[in-house]
Amino acid sequence: MSYSEAAALKALGDVRDPRTGRDIVSAGMLGDLDFKDGILRAVLLIDPALANGFEPVRKSAEDTLKGLDDVDKVTVILTAHKAAPKVGKTAPAKGKNPHQARRPEGYQGDGQITTVLAVSSAKGGVGKSTIAVNLAVALAKLGKAVGLLDADIHGPSAPILLGLKGVRAHTEEAFGRRLIKPFDAHGIKAMSIGFLTEDDGPIIWRGPMVQGAISKMLWDVNWGKLDYLIIDMPPGTGDAQLGLAQDIKPKGAIIVSTPQDLALADARKGVRMFERVDIPIFGIVENMSIYICPDCGNGHYIFGKDGAKNEANKLGVPYLGGAPLDISIRESGDSGTPAAAGDGVVTEIFTKMARKLIAQNDER
Ligand SMILES: Nc1ncnc2c1ncn2[C@@H]1O[C@H](COP(=O)(O)OP(=O)(O)O)[C@@H](O)[C@H]1O
Ligand SMILES: [Mg+2]
Repeated sequence: MSYSEAAALKALGDVRDPRTGRDIVSAGMLGDLDFKDGILRAVLLIDPALANGFEPVRKSAEDTLKGLDDVDKVTVILTAHKAAPKVGKTAPAKGKNPHQARRPEGYQGDGQITTVLAVSSAKGGVGKSTIAVNLAVALAKLGKAVGLLDADIHGPSAPILLGLKGVRAHTEEAFGRRLIKPFDAHGIKAMSIGFLTEDDGPIIWRGPMVQGAISKMLWDVNWGKLDYLIIDMPPGTGDAQLGLAQDIKPKGAIIVSTPQDLALADARKGVRMFERVDIPIFGIVENMSIYICPDCGNGHYIFGKDGAKNEANKLGVPYLGGAPLDISIRESGDSGTPAAAGDGVVTEIFTKMARKLIAQNDER
């Protein structure tokens, strides 16, 4: 998603359908959005019976978009609404989903990314982003060229975790196209939807829109040559995540879980989700596996011991290791310098995890 598309999406979020009072984006009326060579095109999906009454809304959307920077021409068209193709149980036929990643024809950047890996969790708050960022930095310290794509549109955290809060992405000319320039931080390249939007407010996008935005963001970034691109996926195992996995087609997936039984039941769902679309699990990471008491020095298994390790064995998928519940991990994340970038005990834990990951990848 280009900067202008992100800005357009945000602007359209202020255009209301007077009949319902809802904005046209959250009401699910935005069918497509595309910006190319200064021309911004938007498609609004509406009930054909209401087409006439909808003209003022179309006009208002057009006027709103005309006010954006870098936009020379705007067309907003109305299209009769058809139900969006269902992503999930039955995979949509290739090319049928209008929001599917459109890898640009002849895109020279293709093939420059050797291994795309999705970091996923069934729930938010288990430390998915923390693990994704630290693994990315640890891989870079081992000499790999690494990119991190923060695809968690509803809660982008790379800006904070990498110390890039408030930065705004720019585009540059590459491979005969305008591509978004990623940011360098702690030895990796990073892109986040958080670098493309204007403020910190939550972004409410429909499933297919989210999918389209992320896969476009993936292909519209000037990553250069990468050994690994780590994708911090939106949490969950629903249709949106499944569709995204199909769009991005990572070489492998990493599932982050905390060790308690309930979380592990979710981790199983995650494993099944990727299996359904033939994406191999490169490993399960157990986060918050042990708490070392700073006073007594003893380890406490607050959420149970070896839960994820045993689960990985049961499921027949690799176990990549565990990260302790450690205040330095939280503090380093909050301060924008990932623990893996330092040289403490925790750093070594992420380095080991990254080594196992490389071994997994080299085997396949
Ligand atoms: N191993 C850990 N030890 C201490 N704090 C952690 C650990 N993992 C994550 N956290 C903290 O927990 C919170 C949620 O983590 P985050 O990575 O944002 O989760 P998610 O991406 O799954 O929503 C953050 O404040 C983070 O710093
Ligand atoms: Mg997160």
